[in-house]
Order: sequence, then structure tokens, then C-alpha cells
Amino acid sequence: MSVKHFGYIAFVSSPELLCSPAHLPVPSSQDFQIKQRAMANLLSSAPIHASLPDCFVFPPDQRPPASSQAVSLPVIDLSRGRDEVRRAVLDAGKELGFFQVVNHGVSAEAIRDMEAVCAEFFRLPAEEKAAFYSEDTDKPNRLFSSTTYELGDEKYWRDCLRLACGSPVGDTKNNWPDKPKKLREVVEKFVEPTRGVGMELLRLLCEGMGLRPDYFEGDLTGGDVIINVNHYPPCPAPGLTLGLPPHCDRNLITLLLQSTVPGLQVSYKGDWINVESVPNAFVVNFGHLLEIATNGVLKSIEHRAMTNAALARTSVATFIMPAADIPIGPAEELVGEGNPPRYRTVTFDEFMRVYKTVGARRESVEKAFKL
Ligand code: OGA
Ligand code: NI
Repeated sequence: MSVKHFGYIAFVSSPELLCSPAHLPVPSSQDFQIKQRAMANLLSSAPIHASLPDCFVFPPDQRPPASSQAVSLPVIDLSRGRDEVRRAVLDAGKELGFFQVVNHGVSAEAIRDMEAVCAEFFRLPAEEKAAFYSEDTDKPNRLFSSTTYELGDEKYWRDCLRLACGSPVGDTKNNWPDKPKKLREVVEKFVEPTRGVGMELLRLLCEGMGLRPDYFEGDLTGGDVIINVNHYPPCPAPGLTLGLPPHCDRNLITLLLQSTVPGLQVSYKGDWINVESVPNAFVVNFGHLLEIATNGVLKSIEHRAMTNAALARTSVATFIMPAADIPIGPAEELVGEGNPPRYRTVTFDEFMRVYKTVGARRESVEKAFKL
């Protein structure tokens, strides 16, 4: 066991601490306790991890496979003609539910700065990160470890910085960490154009499906844009654990900077395919809510993140979300004779209550909302 001193808190890296239950109630006045828990739980705050604590070990049938199929996601160049792009996006969306986009209009500089500042955040001294740590899943801006899909006992090998961003960002950036110094400015410059790409993809998909192009404008995409910065430190036993378990996203559309260190895998015909790293590309996929809104024309596909032994990996997921109290159901235009609604209409709040109870697996969420 190694002991490091950060000011007044002795930080002890031990499997027992990492495996202690993550959601013990912590009275808000007990700042000291929460800081200690931050020190114990944040993977990125530990010195080197020599071995994998038991709570991170998955049952054998859920561990990463030794190999996976060599299938690549389509890479769509958004600077091509609109007809071609519309067709490509809809085809890839229907067929795989996952694709990559390049020449999307978010500058290489905005992406580079975002990736750099996010990686830098996780390299901050443990005590500075502890100041932003919270185990309150209702808190829009927070740093936490493992995952919110936690239903069982296993933990996942990742830390996550979650940021809620208004559109435009405006004052919402004051709720983000103020370290590293450039974080707020860099995230603002990244998230606004990235949301723009997501909205443009939704317009293209609408056109392709026969919905009015502005169908998703307004309340349906009126919630905060959520950014999850996922950080997966080098893992002592990548074959026994996962950085993120199989899940579908809960929102409408996700744009992911997957990092030059690969790790994302997508469900494909009962297997998992690796997503190759393409410079400056966004990996795009659809959340449950887009599947509901399109009556299943577009599907939310399960994906997961592997860890690796040598390198830390930091990915940035941008989620476009509806306003909280907005009902979401199959679009009328996509329902008709011989094509009944396949999902019930839910408010986003209700959806989230269920999602948090049943977990993020495709099957359980489908069961809860399918008619
Ligand atoms: C997510 C996600 C994958 C990755 O944040 O929802 O699926 O590669 N991330 O980090
Ligand atoms: Ni995801």
C-alpha cells in the first residue's frame, strides 16, 4: 500500500478503499469526508495502480473479447454535396446506428484545445480535483468515478467530468471548474459549434426521413448540452474489466471525440467492433430518445469502452438533450396505417427516472417503453 500526503489529507491507495460502496450518503456539511472519498475513489488521483481491485473484475462472460470483427464505421465527409451527405447519414444511421463525420466545421484548433484541456484537468493534483467531486447524481456539474449506470456491484474503470452547458453557454460556464485556467473558455469554444454539428445532423436525418427539417429544433433539443469527459487511466488488467459497460445513450444524438487512443466498441450482429480513431472526427450515435421520436427508424445501439494497460485515454462525449418536461413520442409523420406507434410517449423526466432504475442496457429500456 502506498501513502501520499496532499496537504492535510493522507491519501491511501488501496483496493479496499476503491471497492468501498460509492454511494454512501454524505451530509453536505461534511466537506472533509467527501474530499477523502474523492481521494479514495478517483482513479486518476491514485499513484500507479499495481493490480485490479476485485470490485472491477467482471464475470467471465462479460469481459472484453480477445478479438473482434474487422468492420469499420463509415466515415462521412460533411463538406460534400447536401444530397450525398443526407443519403450517407441516413443509410449509416439506419444500418449501423453509428458513424463518423469529418469536415464538420468544428475547427481542428477547437478540438485540439478541448482534448488538451480535458487531459490536463485529470492531471491536476488530487486535492484540486477533489473540490469538484460529488456523488450526487442529480448535480449537473460534477466529477465522479465509475458510472451512473451502477446497478450491480461491479465498478468501471473510468473517472468522469460532467458539464452542463447552456446554448449559448453564457453564465452556465461559471458552474464549471476554474482549473485549468483555460478550461471554461476552451469548453465554450468547443461546445457551441459541436452542438451546431449535432443540430445539422438532426436536420439532415429529418429531411431523409420525411420529417420537417426543424422537427427537433426548440424544446425537443432545448435542454442543457451535457458534456461527459471520460477519463480511463492505464489499467493493470484490461482483460478483466471495462471502462464503460454496454449501454445506450439516453439523449437524442451524441458526438464523441474518441481520442487517438482507441477503446470504443460498438455492438454489431451479436459481436463488438472496434471504432478506429480518425483524426478530428466525431463518432456519432443516437440515444434512446431519438429511437422513440423516430418510431424506431433510427436505433440506439449499445456500445462500451475498453481500457488499456499502457496509456491513459480521455474521450469527450457531447449529448444533445431535450428540455426536462417535454413529452417525447413517435413523430406523427412516421406513424400510419400498418405502422403503429411502437413506443409510448414519455416526458424526459419520466424517461430518466426509468433509465436510472432499469439501467442503460438496450433491452431493459426498450421493455419499459415499447408498446
Ligand atoms: C459515453 C460513451 C465512449 C468512450 O460517454 O456515453 O459511450 O469511448 N463513451 O468513451
Ligand atoms: Ni455512450
